[in-house]
Amino acid sequence: MTGTLNATAAVEIDNVAVRFHSKRTEVTAIEQVSLDVAPGEFVSIVGPSGCGKSTLLKLVSGLLKPSAGSVTLLGEQVRGPRHDIGFVFQRAALLEWRSARKNILLQAEMRGMNSAEAGKRADELIEMTGLSGFENALPHELSGGMQQRVALCRALLHQPRVLLMDEPFGALDALTREQMNVELHRVWRETGTTVLLVTHSIAESVYLANRVIVLTQRPAVVKEVIEVDLPDERDYSATMARPEFATATAHIRDLLGAVTGHD
Ligand SMILES: Nc1ncnc2c1ncn2[C@@H]1O[C@H](COP(=O)(O)OP(=O)(O)OP(=O)(O)O)[C@@H](O)[C@H]1O
Ligand SMILES: [Mg+2]
Repeated sequence: MTGTLNATAAVEIDNVAVRFHSKRTEVTAIEQVSLDVAPGEFVSIVGPSGCGKSTLLKLVSGLLKPSAGSVTLLGEQVRGPRHDIGFVFQRAALLEWRSARKNILLQAEMRGMNSAEAGKRADELIEMTGLSGFENALPHELSGGMQQRVALCRALLHQPRVLLMDEPFGALDALTREQMNVELHRVWRETGTTVLLVTHSIAESVYLANRVIVLTQRPAVVKEVIEVDLPDERDYSATMARPEFATATAHIRDLLGAVTGHD
């Protein structure tokens, strides 16, 4: 991207490398990765297991420092853990003794947000993600998909401009996962949040994103960036049936097959 676009990027990953040292070994997880994400953009990241996808998200969140290069979030270089982002992991990680709504409001308590405003926002998110009627249910009374919706609401409560998601639907069955994809797409359009999603599902990566970043095997470099040529309005079945969808998924499958040595 050009310098002008860089100045307005939500996330700028500039020539980043990550090396992990132990007593005897050194593992290079990421080597020379550069990526700019525009405000409001949805970017999916795919790549072989162990290539460095989670490491990349940790760099953006400031949980990890790069060995070389720099990461800039909302115009500010990332130097430590950032609190102005949202993070959703593969497991919902809810507190078992708190209701769905109270798990969502945990975010507000940790941040000292105004409780009336946080409550209003929590109710909007509950409505937006189809959790109405389950506000007072405990996590064990919720399905896996519902628990992930609670985790998503919690990550969005403080209206983060950047949302990082690391295989958020990896533990769900195929049908629930499709439903969550549809909901996430709608939530993304309604909130305008910039999203970086790590996923192992090629279909999910294309259905949700404006661009898909394909990483190589470790040490990860960017193998290719695929621009997703689909309209923003994405009915699930209609999207799956589009030739552009088939072309993009087949291409990504080829790229991943090429880097892992099998399809
Ligand atoms: N804290 C750490 N210390 C040492 N090595 C690490 C650490 N974190 C990650 N690694 C190594 O870095 C590499 C990339 O790990 P990472 O978790 O980013 O992969 P991934 O692409 O997210 O994999 P998966 O798809 O299986 O989740 C792996 O080889 C891993 O062993
Ligand atoms: Mg990972």
